[in-house]
Amino acid sequence: MDILFTNIKELLQTRSASEVKVKGKSMGELPHIKNAFLRIRGENILDFGLMTDLILHQTDAVVDVTGKIILPSWCDSHSHVVYAGDRSQEFVDRLNGLSYQEIAANGGGILNSAETLQNTSETALYAQSVQRVKELIKLGTGALEIKSGYGLSTESELKMLRVIKTIGEKLPLKVKATFLGAHAIPKKYKTDKTVYIDLIINTMLPEIHHQKLADFIDVFCEKGYFSLEDTEQILEAATRYGLVPKIHVNQFNAFGGVGLGVRYKALTVDHLEVLNDDDLDVLKNSDTMPVALPGCSFFLGIPYTPGRKLIDAGLPLAIASDMNPGSAPSGNMNFIVSLACIKMKMTPEEAINAATLNGAYAMDISEHYGSICKGKKANLIITKNMSSYRQIPYLYGNTPIYKVMLHGKFVD
Ligand code: NIG
Ligand code: FE
Repeated sequence: MDILFTNIKELLQTRSASEVKVKGKSMGELPHIKNAFLRIRGENILDFGLMTDLILHQTDAVVDVTGKIILPSWCDSHSHVVYAGDRSQEFVDRLNGLSYQEIAANGGGILNSAETLQNTSETALYAQSVQRVKELIKLGTGALEIKSGYGLSTESELKMLRVIKTIGEKLPLKVKATFLGAHAIPKKYKTDKTVYIDLIINTMLPEIHHQKLADFIDVFCEKGYFSLEDTEQILEAATRYGLVPKIHVNQFNAFGGVGLGVRYKALTVDHLEVLNDDDLDVLKNSDTMPVALPGCSFFLGIPYTPGRKLIDAGLPLAIASDMNPGSAPSGNMNFIVSLACIKMKMTPEEAINAATLNGAYAMDISEHYGSICKGKKANLIITKNMSSYRQIPYLYGNTPIYKVMLHGKFVD
């Protein structure tokens, strides 16, 4: 099926295939064409350009989008959207004065979600999770990384990863799966976490590899969770199985997680709310993408990742939702883009680059997603009528979306 969009007010993020990420000053540039056309063939982008250069060919459908903007759909490179139940009671506990860490130390937090998930059937887990992802698609997310990590037993981690796989097969968005068995230490291993780490390395990893259930490996490298040594052991084992690291570091404490990630050629290091100069230096000499999760800072009231500092140091930056039941219950990437501007002082151009092309790089899919480029997948957001793309972050809390197209098909 050939579809031709005409009279596009602004066609954003038009790039060549060689541009797989943007960094530093280049993040402030968002290439776009005013009064453009865009031609889709099947799943892919066939051609685009100025309306004045349009040569009319035979096409199956012409869609006039006068007044509207078209941009690549959001690439959300960090989520925990597969979970069971919710943690709204912990939300209220926090409003009443308890901290996120205090709740976790009392057996709540990730362990609370793990208990609920272990007692939820695979069918029910799928039903709850797929509903959330359908909502995200309506909000413009076209590629999504989803982590395990609320199973914390071999059986339940595999259950989560199977649910992630099925979501990727049944829904029209692109899904990448990350194994996060090292998300928290289960209660029964509290006094001897090495037994749990052994289980991850010697039982979970081989089985996940055998069943081809994950693309990436993640560890929550944080005080009270997994130390540098624990993280290194897990990354070492996982990379032997071909899993590329994407790790949680520097959420509350900076103690070398960034350097370790870079040493293990991590695709991304995520969170970075606490960042020191050594971390910054080590990132400068690497291909590792820093990822900020401003929804988590907003919801927990913790510092925002110093995005300005990272970009001004010449580094790239991606932004992602971190959608999860404890620290970031919303996966609305439109709001994440607004937060990046309002709270992290990123420009609309930087925030949109961070949520599209750099988000795609952060999932290792920027060859096919994240920009308007001939041959890339036709994953598009068509906005409501607006004066310019600056309205996307400006109208925070609103949805700028008129229609979404994924792999060349309009989503209902
Ligand atoms: O990225 N920090 C670790 N993991 C998640 C939160 C998990 C939870 O609270 O359930 C995060 O914020
Ligand atoms: Fe996370």
